[in-house]
Amino acid sequence: MALVKRALALLMSITLAMELIHAAVYKVGDSAGWTTIGNFDYKKWSATKTFQVHDIILFKYNAQFHNVMRVTHAMYKACNTSAPLATYTTGNDSITIKTRGHHFFFCGVPGHCQAGQKVDINVLQSNEMAPTSSASSSESSPPVPSAKVPGPAPSNAMPLKALKSPSGNIGLAMAVLATFLINFS
Ligand SMILES: *[C@@H]1O[C@H](CO)[C@@H](O)[C@H](O)[C@H]1NC(C)=O
Ligand SMILES: *[C@@H]1O[C@H](CO)[C@@H](O)[C@H](O)[C@H]1NC(C)=O
Repeated sequence: MALVKRALALLMSITLAMELIHAAVYKVGDSAGWTTIGNFDYKKWSATKTFQVHDIILFKYNAQFHNVMRVTHAMYKACNTSAPLATYTTGNDSITIKTRGHHFFFCGVPGHCQAGQKVDINVLQSNEMAPTSSASSSESSPPVPSAKVPGPAPSNAMPLKALKSPSGNIGLAMAVLATFLINFS
């Protein structure tokens, strides 16, 4: 029983760690950063990424020459800098994406948006593995039955299935690992 509890505790901490790692950081423009130099194609850059809720969008730039404005779609299309929803000016701005859908950004320095320094972060997927939701679901998962340790016990796999996360593979890997720990530790 103690072993099962320990294995489950380990499983929970690993799963939580994986969730934190799962929130990706995307540096806009990769090594080019946030700039007008070289006509970087931010549309193309953005199209190659699969953004998720909780991901972090990092704008790195020289704050003497650029900034970041979050704007509406209409403002984005028109490069209209008159009423941004938010303005960032540190040169090292990390913005956590909290909702699905389009998030429009451009540089508010005159001419820069027109020159192509604009990016549309389109978040298609919601990352269901938020730490809060997993914590509550683990509390509500059925209690571990008195396990027959050692020996292959298919019943051990049952409660672990409840931990299987919506994003499949990690949860499955964790369940396999936990089953291994329970049976062989
Ligand atoms: C820019 O946006 C503001 C606020 O939405 C609007 O009042 C203004 O007419 C717009 N300017 C242009 C040139 O589209
Ligand atoms: C930029 O921001 C990140 C996280 O917000 C921080 O870890 C990093 O040290 C910052 N870098 C600079 C050069 O300020």
